[in-house]
Amino acid sequence: MSLRTFILGLSASFGVAWLAIVVIPFFKMRNLEPIQLDEATDGTTGIFYPKRTGRIADGSRVYAQNGCYLCHSQLVRPTYAGNDLFRPDWGGLKSDGDRGDTRRETNAYDFTGEKFAQIGVTRMGPDLSNLGRRLDALHAKGESPEAWLYSFLYNPRSNPEHWKSTCPPQPFLFVKREIKGNPSPDALPVNAGEGFEIVPGPDAKALVSYLLSLKKDQKVPAVLNFAPVKKAGS
Ligand code: HEC
Repeated sequence: MSLRTFILGLSASFGVAWLAIVVIPFFKMRNLEPIQLDEATDGTTGIFYPKRTGRIADGSRVYAQNGCYLCHSQLVRPTYAGNDLFRPDWGGLKSDGDRGDTRRETNAYDFTGEKFAQIGVTRMGPDLSNLGRRLDALHAKGESPEAWLYSFLYNPRSNPEHWKSTCPPQPFLFVKREIKGNPSPDALPVNAGEGFEIVPGPDAKALVSYLLSLKKDQKVPAVLNFAPVKKAGS
């Protein structure tokens, strides 16, 4: 083999992969055109714009800085590539009180408002695409999702259901301060020493706000819904 063929072959094998995995998706997803809803198939008109409330930009930064994406994905894969839709509450809720079955795959529009799509590197922990939706269930038990997340982030093993958790604790996102007057309503239920309390810092607040905003199961227009058609009654 001549050097020329070798170099050409080498560039072709890396070049084609680079084109298909980096360049084409970049140009396809960089500027997403709004999708028009269609009266006939979607039952409504207007444009599709998934709404999320919370400190998304700040929280997404804290999420990245602390490497959450190393172990947590935010990508409910298309059914042909995995069985994510069937995992409990990953793609949405199987039977939501008002909306029925909301499970669906992730699409590029789900990352609206985030500068970087945190699709994740590995899946050591559960997918977080619909974490906010899962934690909403705590309201029914009279518990607060914020308080649950603060305690979990401070020390995942403090939660009896997660006593063997390998999710790394993030105590540096919290501050220890002297109690002046009444204790803060956000103070963690941990012993911080006489006269002191542990409260979430600004980064913890942004991160929790972001995590609670993760509800990527809004109804999508028919053109985006690639999930297999469900048979009536199944
Ligand atoms: C070393 C890998 C690793 C890293 C890094 C990591 N986690 Fe985890 N996480 C896990 C594992 C494993 C679990 C499952 C065990 C458990 O339920 O506690 C988990 C569980 C969770 C849960 C509970 C999810 C549920 O549905 O019950 C939340 C919330 C969470 N992690 C948030 C975070 C956040 C936020 C960060 C970044 C600050 C982070 N994790 C970083 C491994 C990791």
